Amino acid sequence: MMEYDNATIGTGTIIEPDVRVGFRYHPQCGPTTIGANSILRSGTIVYGDVELGNYFQSGHYTVIRAKVRTGDYCTVCNQSTLEGIIRMGTGVRIMSHCYIPSRTWFGNHVFLGPGVTILNSRYPGRLPDIPTPRGPTIEDEVMIGGGVTIMAGVTIGARSFVAAGSVITKDIPPCSFVKGCPGRIEPLSAKLDVEMDRTLTIQSRDLWHPDHDWSQVDWPDDWQESR
Ligand SMILES: CC(C)(COP(=O)(O)OP(=O)(O)OC[C@H]1O[C@@H](n2cnc3c(N)ncnc32)[C@H](O)[C@@H]1OP(=O)(O)O)[C@@H](O)C(=O)NCCC(=O)NCCS
Repeated sequence: MMEYDNATIGTGTIIEPDVRVGFRYHPQCGPTTIGANSILRSGTIVYGDVELGNYFQSGHYTVIRAKVRTGDYCTVCNQSTLEGIIRMGTGVRIMSHCYIPSRTWFGNHVFLGPGVTILNSRYPGRLPDIPTPRGPTIEDEVMIGGGVTIMAGVTIGARSFVAAGSVITKDIPPCSFVKGCPGRIEPLSAKLDVEMDRTLTIQSRDLWHPDHDWSQVDWPDDWQESR
């Protein structure tokens, strides 16, 4: 089913079958805007009151609830959820199976590996979140490894690198390296304190895009059945 009656879609944007855009979640729900040259993959649902930039990409069964705003070149892969009231700058890339709660703020060129869990309530069901539940602030060029958990309300400073599987329990200064549970903070090593490769976050297409060079899509040469 295709339903765009509550949405404006930019030129060159591909919307696959079985995508829902501008979902009227509330009687006063406003429209959704999707920029140019984007791709929404089959199974995606985008609520009303959402603004997605140019070159946005969703994976399959991506959920984008209300009041999400993104800059250009943002990606949210398969089965990841943006719970609503989320701000993303340019080039935020979220891999598959991530959970992003409401009131989470992303700067520019942030990368989240697969299976990242972000929280927005510190003592759920015990103490109130004052004034509201609040997700973290993740500044520019932060790299979050796969399977990381990030506690409510913390700030992860610009250019920091978080090792896979870490648990972030407190504010992280800019240019930090964090590893373990609870996450231990060190300055970035010389190896990681290098300019970010923005081809990771600025992607206008992926492996399965209709315009991708199919000759490049192959099994590794050292796999027996690759010929
Ligand atoms: C943290 C990281 C950058 C370390 O890489 P590295 O500098 O090459 O380090 P090494 O693999 O040589 O490991 C160094 C030590 O750290 C440990 N280590 C490596 N990764 C770790 C992690 N994620 N958490 C805890 N310890 C880790 C190693 O076991 C090793 O310990 P030892 O010295 O006691 O033997 C890397 O392992 C990592 O987590 N990268 C993120 C990858 C990711 O999530 N990608 C997502 C997209 S696919």
